[in-house]
Amino acid sequence: MKLDLESASLSRIKADLLVLGLFQDEDVRATIEKLDPDFPAQFLDHIAQMCQEELFKCKNKESISFFCSGQIGARKLVLVGLGKSCDYKIASVRKTVANLARMFGAKESCRHLILQLRMDGQSDMLRAAVEGWFLGSYNFLNYKKVAEDGFSPSLKTERLTFIDQKMGKEEFLRLCEEGRTIAESTNFARDLIAEPACVMTPSRLAEAAQSLVSASVECRVLEVEDVAAMGMGAYIGVAKGSHEPLKFISLKYAPANARKTITLIGKGITFDSGGLSLKTAVGMEKMKHDMSGAAAVLGAIRAVSELHAPIAVHVLIAACENMPGGGALRPGDVLTSMNGKTIEVNNTDAEGRLTLADALCYAGKEKTDAIIDIATLTGAVVSALGRAAAAIMGNDQILIEKMITAGEKSGEKYWQLPMFDEYKDSLKSDIADLKNAGSRGEAGTASAALFLKEFVDGVPWAHLDIAGTAWQEKEKDELNRGGVAFGVRSLSYFLLFEAANNN
Ligand code: BES
Ligand code: MN
Ligand code: ZN
Repeated sequence: MKLDLESASLSRIKADLLVLGLFQDEDVRATIEKLDPDFPAQFLDHIAQMCQEELFKCKNKESISFFCSGQIGARKLVLVGLGKSCDYKIASVRKTVANLARMFGAKESCRHLILQLRMDGQSDMLRAAVEGWFLGSYNFLNYKKVAEDGFSPSLKTERLTFIDQKMGKEEFLRLCEEGRTIAESTNFARDLIAEPACVMTPSRLAEAAQSLVSASVECRVLEVEDVAAMGMGAYIGVAKGSHEPLKFISLKYAPANARKTITLIGKGITFDSGGLSLKTAVGMEKMKHDMSGAAAVLGAIRAVSELHAPIAVHVLIAACENMPGGGALRPGDVLTSMNGKTIEVNNTDAEGRLTLADALCYAGKEKTDAIIDIATLTGAVVSALGRAAAAIMGNDQILIEKMITAGEKSGEKYWQLPMFDEYKDSLKSDIADLKNAGSRGEAGTASAALFLKEFVDGVPWAHLDIAGTAWQEKEKDELNRGGVAFGVRSLSYFLLFEAANNN
């Protein structure tokens, strides 16, 4: 698909469809006249009259269409409401364009689309618009014979033209590449989550990681013997209940001009049955997406490596399946992690933190400037924050704030939760250094973070709990139905725009 920039007037450009965004607080006629003084007067009368009759108020998500019958260059004109101009933000552009992709992207009659979305040369908006287009046109049809509601059939649009008088050509191309790469990397991660757990096994996840190898990206996959030799007893404990062999995945992107190294750890439980502390049928239904953290870090390293970002990124995934097979962990078992700490497993369903514990120890042994882990870790985060935001915690306020900022810019919200010492009492064990699950219903998200902190040794670290934001029941704006790959965007923005800052 081709993306290009136009500065010609609205009425002159030839296309299948011209989309014009209008604000609630401006007059339709006056705005079109201002944008294009040559706009045919008769057609403008018709448009103004229709808007009045149809009560089109330019509210967010409203739209009204016109056949142009040769009066302007485009065959069809769609006016879309952008809401109040003071509320028009980067996130609104992303959402608007995602919805346009859903509405028009699959239509034969919309091969060439022109967008005038009043971005006024703002680069963050253009990048977000491009992201919105590719995020909104995502579909996963590997197993479906016919596309239906919520699943868009494949894209027919071949060319997307943005009208913007203030943007430079070179900048435009750079922003398009960034937006498109970040969105396509998100879609890459969405595909991994969408695959059922019988397909997306730890081995397949390792293959997906290997598919990202390039001149600047190398991949190593460790087997159970390797991680046993390193003392990863907590991770091995979780994997023992499954016939699927564990895979410890390590990917390194190290460009020559990098001044910093960031380690990203993704929770990669390819299916979470709960183990012997078995989940209920309803609780287990969607647990193929318990590798959403892994998908997010793979998506992020894909994006930054394709964009040749000047920062080194190390991705670690302790992938395995949490099953209740004959070799499974028993409640009450004691495991020894890589840093020598002993853990009493009082609940085998708190498995993510066991795998992350060893991955964090491993990360700390390598030279790195910061560690960020991302995990569908606790159901409790849904009680705390609903599905609007992911939780962020950690040991370094500057890192946490940079990540929150990256989230704001990329349209993924993070909210910090406190890691009070008091919560640690619930992790005290009578027979080991720690137990893996705290008291039910009491600050479960923060106590999980306090558990992880026991395996972080001095390095700046942030923990992202995405259990509430990783899955969508219904498509909404830029988010698809199913696994949304939460974190790809914010991690990519963090690595591209925040981490490079020197403080
Ligand atoms: N993978 C789950 C958390 C989860 C829940 C992710 C819902 C996505 C949606 C995690 O492994 C888990 O089971 N956590 C337990 C921890 C508890 C046993 C301390 C939970 O949240 O109930
Ligand atoms: Mn679990
Ligand atoms: Zn889990």
